[in-house]
Amino acid sequence: MTSILGRAIEKGTINVSAVNIRDYTQNKHNKVDDYTYGGGAGMLMQAQPVYDAYQAVADKIGRKARVIYMTPQGQVFNQRMAEEFAREEDLVFLCGHYEGIDERVLEEIVTDYVSIGDYVLTGGELPAMVMIDAIARLVPDVLHNEDSAETESFSNYLLEYPQYSRPQEWHGKTVPEVLMSGDHKKIAAWRLEESIKRTKERRPDLYVKYEQMRAIYERLYKKKLLHMMMLESINAGTARVCAISEEGVLLEDMKSATYMLSATSKEAGAMLLAQLPEADQIALFVSHQHFLNPLVEEKTQITAPVMKCVQAVYTRGVRLPERKDIEIKCLDESYLSFVMEHYEVATGEEYIAERLQTGNIYGAFKEGVLTGFIGVHAEGSMGILVVLPEYRKQGIAVALESYLINRLLEKGKVPFCQIIVDNEPSVCLQQKLGLAISKENLYWYIR
Ligand code: ADE
Repeated sequence: MTSILGRAIEKGTINVSAVNIRDYTQNKHNKVDDYTYGGGAGMLMQAQPVYDAYQAVADKIGRKARVIYMTPQGQVFNQRMAEEFAREEDLVFLCGHYEGIDERVLEEIVTDYVSIGDYVLTGGELPAMVMIDAIARLVPDVLHNEDSAETESFSNYLLEYPQYSRPQEWHGKTVPEVLMSGDHKKIAAWRLEESIKRTKERRPDLYVKYEQMRAIYERLYKKKLLHMMMLESINAGTARVCAISEEGVLLEDMKSATYMLSATSKEAGAMLLAQLPEADQIALFVSHQHFLNPLVEEKTQITAPVMKCVQAVYTRGVRLPERKDIEIKCLDESYLSFVMEHYEVATGEEYIAERLQTGNIYGAFKEGVLTGFIGVHAEGSMGILVVLPEYRKQGIAVALESYLINRLLEKGKVPFCQIIVDNEPSVCLQQKLGLAISKENLYWYIR
């Protein structure tokens, strides 16, 4: 592999290796296929070599990985799936050939059946390469410009605007004037307008979704302190509309599998909740109005304890001062037991391990000693904030949160957090840092 992925492999950011199923055959002629029972055209890959090849890979990885079987019978691959797969540590792509693979081994090892489109190829290798390319570019540090994967095309519901390089004139065509103006605001406005125009023309289906999201965004923005989590999910391009009406909206943040409901009346809420998936598929639900809670409890089957929160939002957009005497660093998985020892977590150790693995927890070190930490939750809010008792009242929480706010601002995000009602120390901290606090409550249901 060359260029971007080649460099990422060289740097060790990603690792791709091919396993030849033929190396695992027990047949003396190296055969891996045979006739199908019941007759029919073509040959079928047999269970044994596929299973042994899989076992060898599983032993090497040393933990359970998702096994994606490339097949035209699978779910059609899209950007949302690429984002989901990019969060996995390991992926196994099983590529079939001939007429397919013996069903029995598929039943035992495959976790995902994926197609790259409604056409039939001779094997799964090209589809696997297409998927690897789409997934790898979403892995942090694979692309040079950190943000370019996040801020482009499908991620925010619009196709990319046209771009130009030198020379300024080519074949009698000149580069649009505004791009040479140096006025970044004007350039951004022009690009947005072009993106909209292009999406409308080339992908009317996407444009409809974009318009719907924009309308929802505008409605929710009227109470932005209450709705910032929903707004940020839309901004990140990870929101999916489950149900919508004139009086409310039910969104799923696909990255964190969090359902979020806001409605103006109980009746409107009931209508939206009718679109909710099976109760056991819902692990996290956030209700934005108290009168919706009985309905939410009934629908999700999650009852008390409910976390009653207010939302604090850093709306100012200006960077906060950072302290030089406290070193703040991203914590890796080796800090799992430390974090678990000091942070009471409702969502379990696995969740914290995932947050550490994905670089979402930061530690404050004073003279080399870890004194506390802060993190970003899966749905984007700041949290996981702990300062060890012996280091309290030294401004460490302020330093940690200021640091995190600045990093989030750099990524174009609006920093926000949830405060459990009556947590006075947290309210004080948020006010000190200049966060605005919602007057209304949010209600968290955690299974
Ligand atoms: N194998 C053959 N055709 C395929 C397709 N369209 N997608 C994934 N795997 C395949």
